[in-house]
Amino acid sequence: MKKKTEKQQELWQSMLPILVEIENADKKLGDYLECIKVPHKHYSTCRSYLLNVVRCNVFLDHFIDKHLKKTPKPLLRAFFKLVVGQLWQRYLDHNLNESQFAPLVNGWVDRAKTLFSKAESKCVNAVLRKVLSFFEQAANLPLDIRYSTSRWLIERYVSIFGQEETLQFLQWNEGFASIYIRSEKHYPFLEPTQWPHFYTLKDSTAWSNILQLLNEGKVYVQDPMTRIPVDMLQPTSGQSILDLCAAPGGKTRQIISLIGNTGCIVSVDLPEHMKRLQANTKGFKNIHILPHDVLTLSAEVLQLNNLPAIYDGVIIDVPCSNTGVIRRKPDVLKRLTPADFQKLPALQSKLLEQASCFVKPNGHLVYSTCSIDPDENEGVINRFLKKHPTFSLIASQVSLPWIVQHDGGGSFLLKRKSV
Ligand SMILES: C[S@@+](CC[C@H](N)C(=O)[O-])C[C@H]1O[C@@H](n2cnc3c(N)ncnc32)[C@H](O)[C@@H]1O
Repeated sequence: MKKKTEKQQELWQSMLPILVEIENADKKLGDYLECIKVPHKHYSTCRSYLLNVVRCNVFLDHFIDKHLKKTPKPLLRAFFKLVVGQLWQRYLDHNLNESQFAPLVNGWVDRAKTLFSKAESKCVNAVLRKVLSFFEQAANLPLDIRYSTSRWLIERYVSIFGQEETLQFLQWNEGFASIYIRSEKHYPFLEPTQWPHFYTLKDSTAWSNILQLLNEGKVYVQDPMTRIPVDMLQPTSGQSILDLCAAPGGKTRQIISLIGNTGCIVSVDLPEHMKRLQANTKGFKNIHILPHDVLTLSAEVLQLNNLPAIYDGVIIDVPCSNTGVIRRKPDVLKRLTPADFQKLPALQSKLLEQASCFVKPNGHLVYSTCSIDPDENEGVINRFLKKHPTFSLIASQVSLPWIVQHDGGGSFLLKRKSV
């Protein structure tokens, strides 16, 4: 029992310096998650410590500013954020009453004593006693503080989706981001989901098994949403497929699983993103990785690399606002600005224009985003179709996470006419 407590203590303590850095640096959350160095069975605990804080950042700052007279030292501030973030998640998940809540607070007060001075521990005790009543009043806070989401983004989505759906969007974003594994085979430590080939882990001990399979390239960590663009394209054996904006390679792997060692897959991304794309596609024979900017890709460049200039199927999974995956990447809330909804559709339109140059007559083109924003989805597609009557829209699907219960995004299947 003592050993277990010591281990847990190490886990939360090891996250504090990371939280101090997150507060001051502008790195992506994914970079911090990749740096977590703990035994695999503890990974999801550490991940939830970080995600809870980043997801509720404004709400937690509000709590600290309201209850502490002086600005706490960075480590103490990080401690408050970690603890209140954890307690908030427990409160939301289990609707705890005072007698259920008190032992959790007592536990954190005791842990504080192992790390902070007497005066600081006293402050932790006094402040944490006020947490429950703060949570109980949270519904009265303005939405931007309650959901740590900029007012302009809330207003944007109220005008697009309406009040009720925007509230569901905000509530979805603060939920737990499940880790999904895509696998062709059902292993005993994996729990099937309603989506074929997608599993969750049966328990935290499954991580050690998964890691082995990940290294062998037999499974892949991927949300069920990511299956939609490739399912729309329906690549079949013997076909040539061009996968643009391909890194880290999730869609490339799905294409490989459908066309096997027949046909040809060409995956293109910027030179600086090659490492993970190469690692994730290691060992597959019919795949060609091309480090290149899609905006300057041409038939000549492809031919110079002994690759086809036109393809049966082209898929382009563009960089986007990530508004469909905020639950998984809550740092998006901090980075996104209103200007992104002008800059990104302009870039996405250029990328789609480029992608369309490589589609054979009668061939297919899939455009996909992990955004729920109409300007990055229907807006880009409608503009493209107006300009290119040689293409027609065959199918489209915009997944809203609070409805489909997985990550959100848009997928559009276009077909090039025969001439
Ligand atoms: C949404 S991610 C793609 C995810 C990938 N399709 C998958 O399934 O794993 C977008 C990708 O676009 C790439 N990208 C952005 N601008 C690009 C450009 N001009 N040329 C090539 N790739 C670009 C980024 O490097 C990033 O890897």
